[in-house]
Amino acid sequence: MAGTTRRDFLESSMWAAATAAMAGPVLETVARSEESGAASERLRIAVVGLNGRGQDHLNGYMRRKDCEVVAVCDVDSDVVGKKGVDVVEKATGKKPVPYSDIRKLLEDKSINAISIATPNHWHALAAIWSIQAGKDVYVEKPVSHNVAEGRRIVDAARKYDKICQTGTQSRSQTGTKEAMAFLHAGKIGDIKVARGLCYKRRPSIGARGNYSVPTTVDYDLWAGPAPMSPLTRPKFHYDWHWQWDAGNGDLGNQGIHQMDLARWGLGVSDIGNAVYSYGGRFGYEDAGDTANTQVTVHDYGDKTLVFEVRGLPTPDFKGATVGVIFEGTEGYLVLTSYEGGVAFDKDGKEIAKFKGAADHYDNFVKAVRSRKSSDLNADILEGHLSSALCHLGNISYRLGEQVSVADAKQRLAGAKLASEATATFERFTNHLVENKVNLDKTQVGFGPVLALDPKSETFTGSLADKANPMLSREYRKGFEVPASAEKV
Ligand SMILES: NC(=O)c1ccc[n+]([C@@H]2O[C@H](COP(=O)([O-])OP(=O)(O)OC[C@H]3O[C@@H](n4cnc5c(N)ncnc54)[C@H](O)[C@@H]3O)[C@@H](O)[C@H]2O)c1
Repeated sequence: MAGTTRRDFLESSMWAAATAAMAGPVLETVARSEESGAASERLRIAVVGLNGRGQDHLNGYMRRKDCEVVAVCDVDSDVVGKKGVDVVEKATGKKPVPYSDIRKLLEDKSINAISIATPNHWHALAAIWSIQAGKDVYVEKPVSHNVAEGRRIVDAARKYDKICQTGTQSRSQTGTKEAMAFLHAGKIGDIKVARGLCYKRRPSIGARGNYSVPTTVDYDLWAGPAPMSPLTRPKFHYDWHWQWDAGNGDLGNQGIHQMDLARWGLGVSDIGNAVYSYGGRFGYEDAGDTANTQVTVHDYGDKTLVFEVRGLPTPDFKGATVGVIFEGTEGYLVLTSYEGGVAFDKDGKEIAKFKGAADHYDNFVKAVRSRKSSDLNADILEGHLSSALCHLGNISYRLGEQVSVADAKQRLAGAKLASEATATFERFTNHLVENKVNLDKTQVGFGPVLALDPKSETFTGSLADKANPMLSREYRKGFEVPASAEKV
């Protein structure tokens, strides 16, 4: 390989590894599991962020005899009352203490655990502050808004010896666990490619404009670590997913679940050697910034992780719309839901089926009691690594140039295993045509191949100067995610 730099090598092997991706179904479910326990041993829990996912957190603990939701926290006074205090009082007969500022909540030394379901940009800071205050933490996925802050949560959890569960509940499902054991036992041979799929309809979020923050929201606290930008989307809650300041697009929303499963199935425990991504926000113009159609490829040497996001209508692939397809030398396995999937031999004959649910909150509570992070099904380290893959894809995409479809195709044709990369791209463009996107007038955001040093979790090579600052962000004063696990 004389005359070839490490980066060149990584980049060429990256292109060589580029392959097609496909589809599988969704569903944000949590299985019910009742756990008994003496009232005197109850864990005292606070749920932070209550509008949507926070309701599932409340139920996850309120249905248990060994837990008590003693406090609720939300920066929207309407939400904290109606979706916090009222919900808990109705279900348990006891009023939890309401908070708007998590820092005040964390002063309560009697609370054991904090369950975080805020928007993504708050996850790391809320988790680290909670850990520093001596609490165990359940933090929603993606655990971070950028790569660096995910690693900082891991450091804090280890330094303070706290239990920290990631909200990727698929990791607790019995069907998924059995499918992974099947894969790892070599039942479909060697797995070289995992194709994560997030084919989930995402319509326009409405026109970009100047909108008012709801009067019930403390916007300074909502923005927290992110810039306190003027509101440009019509719907305040939830639609932040599609703006970079707080969200990570569907790659970091629904996609992180399947990214995590893809990485787990491949058996890789770092952020890989290189990444590239291309896509765009096609089919409508709205207030969103993030891609609604995106292909991301992660190079792991002899293994490749391909991820496809499609927010416009699209048919399923092999019965799946949100899922993961593992390609083995002796067959393939399709995870079609959070709770399982089907394995096939090389001839497409079904050879095994996996299905079964379990309770992720139960796993967290048990680990809180055992004091062993190793008892967690989705320890923060797993959450960090899989979240990082989503962020890395978005960094390549955001560093991309706008190129014509023909130009993009030509770039991919220059790769080794070009037929695979081209096949993925053809499926991508066919899908756009099916959605009446005029390819002649379309530009694709085409990201560069970015070489990585998985040990330091930084970029290397000629684009490192541009890409490395995107591993973190500028934090607003008072909301800095600590650069180490030290208290600030
Ligand atoms: N694991 C899953 O299957 C799953 C499913 C849905 C959502 N999620 C995750 O849950 C999180 C929340 O999603 P959502 O759909 O409920 O969003 P949402 O915008 O509907 O609700 C978030 C709530 O957090 C509140 N909030 C914001 N900053 C806060 C702060 N500093 N302290 C307290 N409250 C704060 C908001 O006011 C809002 O009420 C996201 O990170 C999302 O990715 C996970």
